[in-house]
Amino acid sequence: MHPMFVASGTAQPVPVWFVNAAGYPGLREQLSSAAIAFADAAGFEPKPGRHLLLPGENGSGALGGVLFGIEADDAPKDWFLPGRLPGLLPAGTYRFGNAPHDTRLAALAFALGAYRFTRYRAGDDKPVRLAMPEGIDGDDVGRIAEGVTLARDLINTPANDMGPAELDEAARQLAARHGASVRTVAGDELIAENFPLIHAVGAASSRAPRLIDLRWGDADAPKITLVGKGVCFDTGGLDLKPDSAMLLMKKDMGGAAAVLALAHMIMDRGLKVRLRVLIPAVENSVAGNAFRPSDVFRSRKGLNVEIGNTDAEGRLVLADALAAADEESPELIVDMGTLTGAARVALGPELPPYYTDDETLAAEVARHAAAENDPLWRLPLWQRYDQNIDSKVADVNNVAAGGMAGSIICALFLKRFVSAAKSWLHFDIYAWTPSSKPGRPEGGECQAARALYALLKQRYGR
Ligand code: BES
Ligand code: MN
Ligand code: ZN
Repeated sequence: MHPMFVASGTAQPVPVWFVNAAGYPGLREQLSSAAIAFADAAGFEPKPGRHLLLPGENGSGALGGVLFGIEADDAPKDWFLPGRLPGLLPAGTYRFGNAPHDTRLAALAFALGAYRFTRYRAGDDKPVRLAMPEGIDGDDVGRIAEGVTLARDLINTPANDMGPAELDEAARQLAARHGASVRTVAGDELIAENFPLIHAVGAASSRAPRLIDLRWGDADAPKITLVGKGVCFDTGGLDLKPDSAMLLMKKDMGGAAAVLALAHMIMDRGLKVRLRVLIPAVENSVAGNAFRPSDVFRSRKGLNVEIGNTDAEGRLVLADALAAADEESPELIVDMGTLTGAARVALGPELPPYYTDDETLAAEVARHAAAENDPLWRLPLWQRYDQNIDSKVADVNNVAAGGMAGSIICALFLKRFVSAAKSWLHFDIYAWTPSSKPGRPEGGECQAARALYALLKQRYGR
């Protein structure tokens, strides 16, 4: 189980009491008169996010319990509000004294809220643990938290320590743990093996571009292929980004991080699928051999692609990876990437858009996104905009003139490279929390993977 959690029944954990205005009077009847007097003297109010540490009985010096305010039963809820607890509580082992609004999500939020990125600066090292509530599958909560932690660590690691080779190494470590195999096509081999767009985008970096290809599971099981944008740093290329836009671009491998997190969950659970993960890992840099605006490349699929903008690089590397994924006609291709600023303009940092022509799948994604508190919002593959990426000299341009509907345009570009897969699902994620929210510390964030895991668990579950 995740190090955050201990088995239920562990000796003497401190109870956390979840209270709102309606539940507080009843709860007070369970507390000692001394505890009630203390709570009143401290002015505790059962409002969302408020907390109070209660003294133990008879001057024992121990904690007697914790009051934690949650939303009214009929109010909108942040299901991760209990993710504030690890930051508020002193070191120790806790249990849920009563039920929060959603016990499983509260336990998950507890683990996710305790995340710190400690690679370059020690954390406050305050071991706060939770006894897994009765009736909750602690192993599953733990594997989800572990996947999210992996993705956050990969995203938060700056590009000097997270280049294409290091991302490859991270995929290999994950593969070794789960008995998966990895094949990498790197540098000039990308030309020999027909990945021209991945090669073009990554050419200007001193760190060789590569395609990481992970496989796991029974060859006869339904084929599920995950494709993640692994741009380890996005300068914009010759269409260079200004300083403010470049600042966060270490997170441009957030799609790769999210698919690795999802792969971990799938493999650790042992879902009945043949999993494949494809990660085009590159650095979009500037040098004399950089690809240029107006260059034309014949892509893996055979479509000639005109470069309208070197900063629309994510869709280029995904195009070749999607074409490779499509060649074995899988049941489902899922791609994720930090593809457009337009997605963030439309829906903000915490609500990534997704795209698919499969109506059944679209509804399932919406349902699991809500149930897992992994918010996602469907946008349309609006075919009438498809002509906007027609090129005057080639089959397709990587950008549309005018810059409207940028996230849809990107999705339509990618769609041209998928034809044989039974279903295709595309996520334009942000992969970053700009300022801390309960269960979501500031920094790299794993988006869409938890919702997808729940969906795949239901379809191919064990
Ligand atoms: N990685 C960026 C997209 C991005 C930027 C995501 C900021 C999240 C925050 C992507 O490679 C990019 O630069 N996209 C361009 C596309 C444009 C040139 C059509 C963009 O969104 O500006
Ligand atoms: Mn870019
Ligand atoms: Zn990018």
